Amino acid sequence: MTSDNAGFPDREAVEESYHRHVDAGRVDTWKMADMQLVMGEREGVRFSDAFTGKSYVNCHCNGGVFNLGHRNPQVIAAVRDAMDHIDIGNHHLVSSHRAAAAQRLVDSTGGRLTGVVFGTSGGEAIDLAIKAARHATGRDGIVSVEGAYHGHTGLALATGEAKFRDPFRHVVPGFDQVPYNDIDSMSAAVDDNTAAVILEAIPATLGFPMPETGYLPAVERLCRDRGTLLIIDEVQTGLGRTGTVWYHEQESIEPDMVVAGKGLGGGIYPIAATLMTAEVHSFTSDEPFSHISTFGGAELGCVAASTVLDIITDPRFLARVREVGDRIGRGLEDGPFEIRRRGMLTGLKFSEPMGGMAAMKTLFDEGVYSFFAGNDPSVLQFKPALVISDHDLDWLITTVRRVLG
Ligand SMILES: Cc1ncc(COP(=O)(O)O)c(C=O)c1O
Repeated sequence: MTSDNAGFPDREAVEESYHRHVDAGRVDTWKMADMQLVMGEREGVRFSDAFTGKSYVNCHCNGGVFNLGHRNPQVIAAVRDAMDHIDIGNHHLVSSHRAAAAQRLVDSTGGRLTGVVFGTSGGEAIDLAIKAARHATGRDGIVSVEGAYHGHTGLALATGEAKFRDPFRHVVPGFDQVPYNDIDSMSAAVDDNTAAVILEAIPATLGFPMPETGYLPAVERLCRDRGTLLIIDEVQTGLGRTGTVWYHEQESIEPDMVVAGKGLGGGIYPIAATLMTAEVHSFTSDEPFSHISTFGGAELGCVAASTVLDIITDPRFLARVREVGDRIGRGLEDGPFEIRRRGMLTGLKFSEPMGGMAAMKTLFDEGVYSFFAGNDPSVLQFKPALVISDHDLDWLITTVRRVLG
C-alpha cells in the first residue's frame, strides 16, 4: 500500500489548503480537539494517518459506508473489471447494470418492494421518497422524529433539526417533528393531510435509542389507518449492520418505502436507492422523466451495489454479524455505559452529557476511531466493520475495556 498524499509535503500544508479552500471549521475543530488526522493508507478494518502512519481501527465506518471494510477486495475486483468495459452509463437510457442491482434490492425485501429509484446520496434518496409519497397520496404533510437525521438536501433537511436549517434560512412548509418512541405525539401529528411518516427505526444521530416494544408496529398501524405512507430510513441500519439485511424485518413491519445509502457502494462508488411498493413506484409510468439524476444509479455504482448485496445477503454473513454483535455485547457488558445494540450496530451511552465525545478522544489516542452521536453527545457510536476478524475483535474489546473501563 502506498499513499502519495496528493503531493502535499506535510500535514501543515494539507491543513492550510483545506482551511482556505474546503472547510475552515473542520480543520479548527479537529485541531482544538487534538485529534488531527489525514486519512492515508486503508485496508480492511483499519486505516492509517497519512503523515505519522499511526493505525486506527475504524469503529465508525462513516455510519456504514465501510461496512465491508476499506477497499473490500470483492467490490474492488468487480468495479475494476467493469471499468475495462463500462463507465457511468446514461441516465436517460435503459441499463442492464441498473436493472441487475434493482433486482437484487427487490429480492432483499422478499419481492415486496418492487420499485427502485437510484440516487447518489442518502439525502437525495430521502428527497425522492418524500416526493414519491406526496405523488402517491396527493397529500403534503411529512412527520419525522425530533433529533433524527435524514440528510442535508432540500426535503431531507426539512425533516431534521433547526440547527442545520436556520443558518441557511431553510424554510419549507408541511414538515412536523415528534419525539421518538412516543406514539401519542405521533398520533396527534398525523392527520388526513399527512403524506408520510419518515423515521429511522433506530435513529443514529440521536444515539441509537432502541425502539420500545410495539412502537414501530404501532406507527405502522397508525399510518395504515390514516392512509399515510411509512418510509423507513435504513441508511445506517440496513445492509446487514443489525444482523438482518434490513432492520425493519426484526420488527415485522412492512414499510411502503425503504431508503438505502452509505454501505450500498461498498466504500468504492457512491450510490443510494429508494425502494418502494409498486403503487408508489407508479409515478415513473404516470410521469415519465419527472425525476432525474445524472449520476444516480451510475453503472459502476450498480456493479459495486450488486457485489455488496451478493455478499451481505448470504445467510452465513448475517449469522457472523449476529455472532460478532453478541460478542461485543458480552465483552463490554460491565463497562461504565449503557449498551444500545442490535447486531453490530452499537451505541455506548454514558451518564455524562458529553461522555460519548470524551470517549471518542480517549479511544482515538489508543488507535480506535469512533464518533459520538451528533444529537446526543453522551452516546458513542461504535460500529466496527462487519468483516472484522476474531483477532481484531479481541484486540478491540480488550482495548475498549482497558481504556474506558
Ligand atoms: C440515517 C441517515 N439518513 C440519511 C443520511 C444522508 O446521507 P448522505 O450524507 O449520503 O446524503 C444519513 C447521513 O449520515 C444518515 O445517517
